[in-house]
Amino acid sequence: MLVNFNEMLMNAKKGKYAVPHLNINNLEWTKYILEKCNELNVPVILGVSEGAAKYMGGYNAVTGMVKGLMKDLNITIPVCLHVDHGSSKETCIKAIDAGFTSVMIDASRHELDENIKITKEVVAYAHERGVSVEAEVGHIGGTEDNITSSATNATLEDCLTLYNNTGIDSLAPALGSVHGFYKGEPNLDFETMEIINENLPIPLVLHGGTGIPDDKIKKAISCGISKININTDLQSVWSKAVRKFLEENKEVYDPRKIIGSGEKAIKDRIEEIVTLFGTKR
Ligand code: 13P
Repeated sequence: MLVNFNEMLMNAKKGKYAVPHLNINNLEWTKYILEKCNELNVPVILGVSEGAAKYMGGYNAVTGMVKGLMKDLNITIPVCLHVDHGSSKETCIKAIDAGFTSVMIDASRHELDENIKITKEVVAYAHERGVSVEAEVGHIGGTEDNITSSATNATLEDCLTLYNNTGIDSLAPALGSVHGFYKGEPNLDFETMEIINENLPIPLVLHGGTGIPDDKIKKAISCGISKININTDLQSVWSKAVRKFLEENKEVYDPRKIIGSGEKAIKDRIEEIVTLFGTKR
């Protein structure tokens, strides 16, 4: 079932576990994720960045692919098709019109007033169509940012202001996590995370899930995180497996064999992630 994230994340918030948001890059990844999560009987959020959508041909191509796979593979778990870091209202509208069930509008590079204005417009369009909306406060950085910070952490005040003025369904407060591998130990502000969670009725999202040690993931979930985004981690285990396969099988040229040699690595890692997150249906 293709659904928005509202029910799965509210259940996660109540049950104190997290739903995995796994980024997809192509048909094979989507198939592996759907098959494995269906086997484990857990809900999943398929994250599609603007770059990945473009790579796969566009939002209509992605929706058609996901819907087709779900039908052909008899996928019965709740699946949310979600734009990851939509940079504009136009991107979100395009994805919603193509059949996405959820969007993240990331207007966090703007001042709070402008972030609110853009987010509010996206919420109005999305909610009329039953689509859920995630927004970002503060700014989640890239790999270098946990040592030379260009990332800015969220404050409770800004989170409340954004929530009260927009009606978003989930919020990603930047609290020290970064995208990609960490240089050194991730430094997450759990205290603020907990305070934001106590003051906001909506589920919280942790971006940059790759490389956060297990104990910190568990702590984040106990502080109210209900959705954790993972991208680099699956890319990393897949590419390692494929590299090994190519080194050991220099004569192989069938792309199905080459791409498929990373299947087990992705599926095994998903099982570890789901177990760590405590995800339930
Ligand atoms: P990682 O690539 O660090 O796992 O982050 C993924 C993410 O936050 C996507 O929004």
